[in-house]
Amino acid sequence: MAKLNPHYGKLGAGYLFPEIAKRTHSFLADHPGVSVMRLGIGNTTEPLTPTVVAGLHEGVDRLADAASYTGYGDEQGTLALREALARRYEEYGVALDVDEIFVSDGAKPDSANIQSIFDQDDVVALQDPCYPVYVDSNVIGGRTGGEADGQYEGLVYMPCTEDNGFFPALPEGDVDLIYLCSPNNPTGAVATLGQLKTFVDFARERGAVIIFDAAYATFISDRRLPRTIYEVEGAKDCAIEIGSFSKEAGFTGVRLGWTIVPKALSCEDASAGAVNGLWLRRQTTMFNGASNIVQHGGLAILSEQGQQECGELVAYYMANAKIIRKALEALGITCYGGDNAPYVWMKTPGGMPSWTFFDKLLNECHVVGTPGAGFGPSGEGYFRLSAFGHRADIEEAVRSIQEKLTS
Ligand code: MLT
Repeated sequence: MAKLNPHYGKLGAGYLFPEIAKRTHSFLADHPGVSVMRLGIGNTTEPLTPTVVAGLHEGVDRLADAASYTGYGDEQGTLALREALARRYEEYGVALDVDEIFVSDGAKPDSANIQSIFDQDDVVALQDPCYPVYVDSNVIGGRTGGEADGQYEGLVYMPCTEDNGFFPALPEGDVDLIYLCSPNNPTGAVATLGQLKTFVDFARERGAVIIFDAAYATFISDRRLPRTIYEVEGAKDCAIEIGSFSKEAGFTGVRLGWTIVPKALSCEDASAGAVNGLWLRRQTTMFNGASNIVQHGGLAILSEQGQQECGELVAYYMANAKIIRKALEALGITCYGGDNAPYVWMKTPGGMPSWTFFDKLLNECHVVGTPGAGFGPSGEGYFRLSAFGHRADIEEAVRSIQEKLTS
């Protein structure tokens, strides 16, 4: 008789964002005629820019002509797109070989799948709070015991708190895989070069591997802050980096991302080149490459004009972030993030449990956000508001909070 993967049974409630959507639908069903403002999931709302639309159209047109038609392509992505990505890293001062770049259908699948090439006994350390995919994919991968008080047995939680500026201290004890995200989802904190260096040095010393999620890198406007972990010397020996076009170009529904696996990366039983080769093996077996039409759109994003337009898109969402943060601070609420990241991380009034605040905000103000506890135990007492939204909706949401939120 077939049996199911028992590790799924360890997962708690549904995945965070569908759970929020479920609660929102149930509120709407109970309150006919009411509309809500959605600042929960970081879902882009503004249209694709003209250059990107033209790139996608061109991708379609190429398929309409036998001379330019392509079927299956390289599972790693088209050479043109990988070369364009390598040029982006060159601007960050980082040289990458195109064979180190793996184009994919987004950062979420890559950040979930990457654990599958590592040993089941590897000990995983994560920032707490963090993007729930890192935790759930390792639970499914069988690296944890059960859950108690919001923590899975076997995972090493690295608290990111007000006291440490939302960047963790080095983990104690042996760890093998370390997930870092900067700009951070959910706290909006951005790691400095020095902070990343402490982790790179630690990982190199211990033979650990860092999985660095840089999905929000283009939201960094402060040029002193690193936009890739490879700005740190030695990072190619120990770090995998994941990137995304979702938020920078409005590709949340179009789907395009990439993962960098440097050839220099090694670990206990894999010499330089072997980890890169294993990810290639994984991708060529489990994935047939991102859509050729979409990759054409990706090339347009990375063109000079595309970068100019996507920069304006990012600036639009960052202006939303400032509006949210300013309005909350005017109410005396302590806020973090929103400067170099599209998320505002607010303290719940009076330290209220974050799911209680979720219900309060929904009921009183008709605003949906994301409870900090959904990102891990250290997220309790915090609440995330996303800056992705039409300006009018963001303004309406903050007006509603200012007028209706009771203390
Ligand atoms: C978020 O809201 O944390 C993200 O939009 C979710 C995602 O990118 O998958």
